[in-house]
Amino acid sequence: MQVGIDKMSFFAPNYYLDMVDLAHARGEDPDKYLIGIGQSEQAVLPPTQDVVTMGANAADQMLTDADRADIQEIIFATESGIDQSKSGAVYVQKLLGLNRYARTIELKQACYSGTYGLMQARDYVTLHPEAKVLVIASDVARYGLETGGEVTQGAGAVAMLVTANPRIATLNQDNVFMSDDIMDFWRPNYSTTAVVDGKFSSNVYRDFFKELWERYQEQNQKTLVDFEAFVFHLPFTKMGLKALRDVLPEVSESKQTALMDAFEASRVYNKKIGNLYTGSAYLSLLSLLQNDASLQAGDDIALFSYGSGAEGEIFSLTLQPNYQDVLLTQQLPDLFKQREKLSIAAYEEMFNAGLTSGQDRQLDMTHDSAKFVLTGLQAQQRQYRKQ
Ligand code: HMG
Repeated sequence: MQVGIDKMSFFAPNYYLDMVDLAHARGEDPDKYLIGIGQSEQAVLPPTQDVVTMGANAADQMLTDADRADIQEIIFATESGIDQSKSGAVYVQKLLGLNRYARTIELKQACYSGTYGLMQARDYVTLHPEAKVLVIASDVARYGLETGGEVTQGAGAVAMLVTANPRIATLNQDNVFMSDDIMDFWRPNYSTTAVVDGKFSSNVYRDFFKELWERYQEQNQKTLVDFEAFVFHLPFTKMGLKALRDVLPEVSESKQTALMDAFEASRVYNKKIGNLYTGSAYLSLLSLLQNDASLQAGDDIALFSYGSGAEGEIFSLTLQPNYQDVLLTQQLPDLFKQREKLSIAAYEEMFNAGLTSGQDRQLDMTHDSAKFVLTGLQAQQRQYRKQ
């Protein structure tokens, strides 16, 4: 029996920042951001969205009533959780009207935990083939105004439904993974922004990738020629490009061109959304599936997931017949068409406008038309609404 991703859906806030505007405001050459970093736009989180509402907004768009009743586990991967105790999954369960007899859990290991969630889902469904598991990877990447990491911020959520006989892709049992205690990026409890050693983190990412790729090939007797595409965690899209370039010399020039074309397709959306932390590699997978017309059923795709701190994993997926029919292909193009561009001043104001104290507060809802919104805080309880 095959197990894998049956449905995928995405949500990002309705606001964005143009990287050319940011470059001008920060005294940088726009090409540094556009080419050197590989980002053109960045999703900006309004106070009325958080990881719970983004996760609910993503999942809601793909779930039928039958799915809602059949889901046996809700796995919520994030490193921007809204509570130290209660999991985001419980809020999502209620907002979406999901099965009461489901397990709910939140996972954390920087950008890696979405992958752990997906594998946990795969293993559960392998044991319980009738089950459906909802995996949500939802995050807000925040480094702070006028920091080196500012150009690599972003926000959004990816939702995936894992089932037996999946319609998009099977998850193959070929994973290799590794972890090590490394201080490349972290966020202490007292801080709303990440602490990062940017250059070091990029080097650790590449070192993990190279070591794991060697290990993957040894353990699975496969090489780069066996894959039609390599999908990466994309904290900024140049990062994945650097990792891919590290291994491209292993194959012929024509294969290099094919893999580079696939990589370009896999970063179309990430360039305009920014870092999604836990969801980044899966947004990149969505971008590949929706923008690479040369892919076909039966093609194998390799995926590298990386989370600072640090943990990495490589595994592969196999595309299923007519996978295109299940994709929600208009989601991202529609978002890009209608989302609102912010001035630098408006972005800076929004950056500092979230619920940061325990004081009761009613948020201004006039500018958020998403289905699930955060309306404020009352008696230290976050107030969510379906509209
Ligand atoms: P920086 O110091 O601002 O940039 O930091 P730089 O000076 O290194 O320049 C970046 C690139 O732009 C360079 O290219 C320059 O040559 C080029 P490279 O040498 O890297 O190929 N450049 C230009 N190109 C064209 N035209 C120009 C021009 N000028 C310069 N005019 C950095 C960049 C990424 C370090 C910073 O933004 C940062 O700290 N970001 C956050 C950390 C990060 O994303 N790390 C990635 C690996 S860790 C990870 O993936 C985990 C993470 O997602 C968190 C988690 O797991 O939870 C972050």
